[in-house]
Amino acid sequence: MAKLDSFQERFQGELQAELRELEAREQRRSLAEIHGTNLCSNDYLELSRHPALKEAVERAVRDAKHIGGTGSRLLSGHAAAWEQLEEEFAEFAGTEAALYFGSGYLANLGLLTALQKKDDLVFSDALNHASLIDGMRLSGARKIIYPHRDLNTLEGGLRKHAHERGRKLIVTESVFSMEGDIAPVTEIMKLAERYGAGVIVDEAHATGVQGPAGRGIAVRDGIAQQLAAAVHTCGKALASAGAFVCGSAALKEHLINHARTFIFSTAMPPYMGEQIRGAVGLARTMDRERAGLMAKARRLASGLRSGGWDTGRSETQIVPLIIGKNEAALSAAEHLQLQGFAARAVRPPTVPPGSARLRFSLTCGISDDELLRLENSLSNWREKLPSSAAVARV
Ligand SMILES: Cc1ncc(COP(=O)(O)O)c(C=O)c1O
Repeated sequence: MAKLDSFQERFQGELQAELRELEAREQRRSLAEIHGTNLCSNDYLELSRHPALKEAVERAVRDAKHIGGTGSRLLSGHAAAWEQLEEEFAEFAGTEAALYFGSGYLANLGLLTALQKKDDLVFSDALNHASLIDGMRLSGARKIIYPHRDLNTLEGGLRKHAHERGRKLIVTESVFSMEGDIAPVTEIMKLAERYGAGVIVDEAHATGVQGPAGRGIAVRDGIAQQLAAAVHTCGKALASAGAFVCGSAALKEHLINHARTFIFSTAMPPYMGEQIRGAVGLARTMDRERAGLMAKARRLASGLRSGGWDTGRSETQIVPLIIGKNEAALSAAEHLQLQGFAARAVRPPTVPPGSARLRFSLTCGISDDELLRLENSLSNWREKLPSSAAVARV
């Protein structure tokens, strides 16, 4: 009998072949350190290097009885301090209660799988984040994807399924992570009420940045208490880690009993609670930084638009530059890197096919000069393109 290839030989060969395939489609990702002016950070308020926050963490580590999570919150990982922090965060988010998860990804997965079952229905914005999509998939519920922010199609779907008995949830981001636009959450809430559905809003890119004192879009629009749940992540503007699912006290109890990503995961290190508390305290006071950040983003978006670039419908600190082809987006990113900007191309499947882009996420310390230099560098790149190369234009 001919000798079979060992598992290891075959396995490594298959992995290499798949990677080569990704490479051929310009879709192979790789890890690289950031250099130069950072245009792809979610540290919107630059709290990750704030001296007061660093001190809060140092103090918390020094005073901590232990610095490990030690077990799931349902076993040894619970402490009164977590409960206290959750109460404080619920007040920030405008809800009755909150439950802390180890990451936003885990929060969305845990929330959706705990709430939805096979006979239920989820209405999902076409541009929702992968963590929401994965949560819906894993829940087994039927999914109805409506085009991005399209209330007519959403209403059509809700009407069509109005007489079904299963639970219906509408799921949307508030600030969309790849577009930088904002969901019409008040109108979505009205539709939900009309057709007996609930609403989940993922505030990941709004937390700390949008709404009064950075409390998010649901607080801004006065609908936080009507939501089935809001998800606020701590790894972006709050420069920490983890995420809160915010809603009623009953939702919190339900999640403690059913959210598998909460139940079967080790608690975060206790000092992280102090980092989050410190960050929320600072973020609440940063109205000036928030206003400056939005003014810079508006200037960049309007400068790019008047230069003929497609920046979609950005109205926040996230400004996409939609280029179209993967190859062109990669070339633009490379050009900017050579000019001293840390910019990354975002390609399908993260964004819809044919809409490869650069995603500029601005932080409050970036200067007007740097933004002007960015616009000039992009113009230089476009001028050097062969005339046959298609770049999306408005
Ligand atoms: C909209 C949205 N939701 C959830 C997440 C996941 O959050 P985390 O990074 O804390 O896992 C992200 C992160 O990129 C996001 O953009």
